[in-house]
Amino acid sequence: MPLHLVEHPLVHDALATLRDSATPPDMFRKMAARISLLLAAEATRDVPVTHGIVTTPLGPAPADRVSADVVVVPVLRAGLGMLDAVLELIPTARVGHIGLQRDELTAIASKYYSKLPGGLERSYVLMVDPMLATGGSAVSALDLLRDAGARDMRLICIVAAPEGVALVEKHHPNVRIFTPVVDRCLNAHKFIVPGLGDFGDRLYGTV
Ligand code: PRP
Ligand code: URA
Repeated sequence: MPLHLVEHPLVHDALATLRDSATPPDMFRKMAARISLLLAAEATRDVPVTHGIVTTPLGPAPADRVSADVVVVPVLRAGLGMLDAVLELIPTARVGHIGLQRDELTAIASKYYSKLPGGLERSYVLMVDPMLATGGSAVSALDLLRDAGARDMRLICIVAAPEGVALVEKHHPNVRIFTPVVDRCLNAHKFIVPGLGDFGDRLYGTV
């Protein structure tokens, strides 16, 4: 199943603060980082490791180390609020950027920036975008990554809508989606209900 619901209580505690319309940007950023770290830990359960040996003060012990070429791809701008937390977990990861902006009237996303690392064919790719609403942005970004050679991709988001999950499943059935929640629906402006509002605006105080 492409959809993986993350049910950890600490994830849902952070989500509650993110949803609260009274949460100011500094706390919103803090909770975005906390939830991203927890979600990334869950999404990377299958990251390739090499088995080795390390010497403790009392002797040799098995030592598994992450050996994959991990590439983190935040979808700008809101995805930047998740990036540092993922890099905290995987400091050696390479980073690609994809800039997409939804039109305020049509909600159709258009690309304004893209810079991806090479050799994506062999990489373990983690795309991070907090909101999966219509799914248009996620599918465009995943298309770009696939066209650049990426094969092994997963998407981490913080709130998803049924429409977005369905669109990603249709176009990228092999991409696993990690999210704490799939909310009720989209409103007439294609915002997730109940959602948490405009993630980028709340993150950067541009409301
Ligand atoms: C938001 C969000 C996603 C997109 C989701 O970005 O970060 O990228 O909307 O909506 P969709 O599933 O309907 O495409 P937005 O375009 O508002 O840009 P921003 O990150 O710069 O605020
Ligand atoms: N983008 C957001 O930031 N929030 C939504 O609810 C939908 C798209």
